[in-house]
Amino acid sequence: MNTVAELTLQALQKHGTERLPGYTASLCTACNAYPPPFGMEWYGEKYREAASDPDWLAMSLIANAAKEGEGAQKLWGLAGRTANHKVADQIRVHAIDEARHARLYIAMLDTAFPGAVSEEIRPTLMNLSPGYSSKDQPPASQLTAETNVLDELIQMNIGEIRTRIHQLLLRPVLTIYCPIGRRGKLTQILDSILEDETRHIEYTARLIEQGIIGGFKGFIHSMMTQRLNEFNQITLNEIGKSSYD
Ligand SMILES: [Fe+2]
Ligand SMILES: [Fe+2]
Repeated sequence: MNTVAELTLQALQKHGTERLPGYTASLCTACNAYPPPFGMEWYGEKYREAASDPDWLAMSLIANAAKEGEGAQKLWGLAGRTANHKVADQIRVHAIDEARHARLYIAMLDTAFPGAVSEEIRPTLMNLSPGYSSKDQPPASQLTAETNVLDELIQMNIGEIRTRIHQLLLRPVLTIYCPIGRRGKLTQILDSILEDETRHIEYTARLIEQGIIGGFKGFIHSMMTQRLNEFNQITLNEIGKSSYD
């Protein structure tokens, strides 16, 4: 089995997720057709090479905070366009998680690199998050087709799989830079993000499974493969920039 598919399915199993045979088959087929670069040995090496520069690593935490904030806003919009209320609400909760992550990346910067966040730039960095809370609701807008939602869920699922792998790469290098007395706090933040990202893979995988059962099997299988291929290309183009999000 492809490494990325294997890592993902193991993480779901460990998380207690029920078997999702349709999703599993779809993910394995896509990963076999287009093996993701982010599961390859050289990719991890490249990452560690870049992260050996603490300035690069600090900047990459800020870039990640920005990406999480943008991701939250996109999800917020999608939640407002999704007709199925149960699905829309899960996407809304996901957006709230990503808004929190934007701030957690700044908290990691603060923790691992004491003094890096000056009081002057703190408000700017905190504003990278749209700051959604569980009391907020996205504005209702023109509803989108069910296949568009499924396509978005597939892209989210693949994105979350990559994010989770980036989290696994980030953890050991950031821990080395972090002052020993602050490592406990850093580990708590890293654990909470990793747990959330695994849940994001889980709920999108479940919705993909429901789509397969609900008559979209052909569509999902072909989109999973097509989107993974595109995502791999995007990943290859991003290598070397500080955007391991
Ligand atoms: Fe996130
Ligand atoms: Fe996520």
